[in-house]
Amino acid sequence: MAGRKKAGTIAHTPVEELTEKAARAELERLAAEIARHDAAYYQSDAPVISDAEYDALRRRNDAIEARFPSLVLDDSPSRRIGAAPAEGFGKVRHRVPMLSLGNAFSDDDVTEFEARVRRFLALKPEDALAITAEPKIDGLSISIRYEKGRLVEAATRGDGTEGENVTQNVRTIREIPHALKGRDVPDTIDVRGEIYLGHADFAALNAAQAAVGGKVFANPRNAAAGSLRQLDSRITASRPLRFFAYAWGEASVLPADTQHGMVAAFARWGLPVNPLMEVCDGPAALLDYFRRMGDRRSSLGYDIDGVVYKVDRLDYQERLGFVSRSPRWAIAHKFPAEQATTVLNAIEIQVGRTGALTPVAKLEPVTVGGVVVSNATLHNEDEIARKDIRVGDTVIVQRAGDVIPQVVRVVEDRRPAWAVPFEFPHVCPVCGSHAVREADDETGEADVVRRCTGGLVCPAQAKERLKHFVSRDAFDIEGLGAERIEQFFDDGRIRRPADIFKLEASDRQSPTPLAGQKGFGAKSVEKLFAAIEARRRITLDRFIYALGIRHVGETTAKDLARALGTIGAFRTAVEAASAGGPDSEAYEDLDNIDGIGTAVVDALVAFYSEPHNVEALDELLKEVTVEPFVPVAVTASPVMGKTVVFTGTLTAMSRPEAKAQAERLGAKVAGSVSKKTDYVVAGADAGSKLVKARELGVSVLSEEEWQALIGGG
Ligand code: IVH
Repeated sequence: MAGRKKAGTIAHTPVEELTEKAARAELERLAAEIARHDAAYYQSDAPVISDAEYDALRRRNDAIEARFPSLVLDDSPSRRIGAAPAEGFGKVRHRVPMLSLGNAFSDDDVTEFEARVRRFLALKPEDALAITAEPKIDGLSISIRYEKGRLVEAATRGDGTEGENVTQNVRTIREIPHALKGRDVPDTIDVRGEIYLGHADFAALNAAQAAVGGKVFANPRNAAAGSLRQLDSRITASRPLRFFAYAWGEASVLPADTQHGMVAAFARWGLPVNPLMEVCDGPAALLDYFRRMGDRRSSLGYDIDGVVYKVDRLDYQERLGFVSRSPRWAIAHKFPAEQATTVLNAIEIQVGRTGALTPVAKLEPVTVGGVVVSNATLHNEDEIARKDIRVGDTVIVQRAGDVIPQVVRVVEDRRPAWAVPFEFPHVCPVCGSHAVREADDETGEADVVRRCTGGLVCPAQAKERLKHFVSRDAFDIEGLGAERIEQFFDDGRIRRPADIFKLEASDRQSPTPLAGQKGFGAKSVEKLFAAIEARRRITLDRFIYALGIRHVGETTAKDLARALGTIGAFRTAVEAASAGGPDSEAYEDLDNIDGIGTAVVDALVAFYSEPHNVEALDELLKEVTVEPFVPVAVTASPVMGKTVVFTGTLTAMSRPEAKAQAERLGAKVAGSVSKKTDYVVAGADAGSKLVKARELGVSVLSEEEWQALIGGG
């Protein structure tokens, strides 16, 4: 097919014929070019191309991304929805973070959620536990602040901590009142909920856009997001955005003591709320609700992607609290994944941060649930063998929510005669080192994952570690995403974490300074250096997480930070355990930290025994300051700084709740008893830990004595 000649600077190769390499280059070029036009249009008010030409550039960018989803750049124009540069909006810090929800995919997950809540609250089987159920709206969440009943500020979720100030645009949404009515409206309250676009309005908007050659949106969610993030609020005003209120952030006083009471108050104040919310008692009622919503899904008139369950009583919500980014008192039950059939063109092996070889299916692009999919995970070699997946096969793929698409199974009667079983490589495709399946210490069974043994010698591993290092939950360096790390690694600018912090200095010496390189202007380079400077101070938990040690995720990093307090203590502890080996006291001390098991200790020791790592760490510590761990909102208390072990069955509250409470009071909760334990709190049927406490002469408290000590909680 001959390429159609288009206006402006559009390339001529049809998207279908682009190679991956050409696509990557063109996406970079398009991102830079569109950013330039955005700046000309929005900042200088002096567009240099026509709207139609501009739209053609964006459409081409979208089409290439749809074909090569893995190539989408961090700073892709499609991520800057609505063509509005992110800098166009001021930032707003959320006074109470906007969290996300954990997911349930099966009936069992829901039953387990209810049981988990009951366990945490130490409820008896006969105690009632009301849980609300409501549709999960597929829009974008927003926090709207009312002071003295008047709308004063509205912000997008952003990263959950900081969002964009979209007050002017939210004021144009007719469904959102500028003033709340009623006598019980609090002095201040952040009302939270979902902004969305109905199906009919979405269709009409797209038809109107198409008629004038404007942007056609892939789905109502994107259209709602694009409409809200317009720098010109007249555009937002012209889009029939809608809103449901379902949550809140900071509030000077609450008008109710239940979730459904809160939503009823929202409705009285004049806020739109979803009429389909119900209060359920028990998992069977929740599942019944889920089925009914599934049946009604297509006739609701707006997109929902599941239902949300929330513990109704607010005092229970308070006690349950949060775990990392989601509340323990709520969960999203997602509708089943959508499926499609396509052909598997190739199996590519990717090498991860810890050397894991992950097979990825390269698929003939296919639309699944409104999104074009061309890659899917195949998990590991056993999975490929079990499902007998071969190159050339016709396969069923599915995707659910934001989860990476998966290959469900092969359609066997459509297998070509030439298809042969896949042979998983035994050497790393990137560095050529042996790739092995380690045997489990205990079972002796081979690990499902085959790993490259190249360590930091393997460029793939080194790159992935750097990407992890700068990622959102680690150093979170703005403007230094995966693509840039790839580029800076390949051109030798960044090889180890410390190089990031030396980048500005090394750039001054460089014969090829960044400013002027493809994709970089003087301004963007300046911004990048500023973003790096801003991260020279980091909290201990983030720092530990950033090191990318195997088995040390966010939660484990926090557990380590909480127990050890400072980077010095962390190093001393790991060094001593490495020197002393598994039988040493130092090893046991680490193992005793609550939440830490031998797999983590072994991984810490393995990390430390590698001279490369210690060197890289030393070098890094010359560049950054690691702040000591500050426990969250600790209230001064008699148990501050004490180490406590809970054992036996507690009656007033469950073990996790007791632990959370103790930590709020500044105590450290350990998993086993040692000389360093200050108190053992023994419930009914306490066993070996109690014996050990007596042996070591550690104070043993009954549950009541413990409650008395901490002043009743
Ligand atoms: S409650 C603390 N209720 O789902 C929990 N969220 O993954 C606050 N969402 O970011 C959220 N419908 O954008 C809640 N009825 C509903 C929802 C809902 C949609 C979205 C929301 C949130 C995401 C959580």
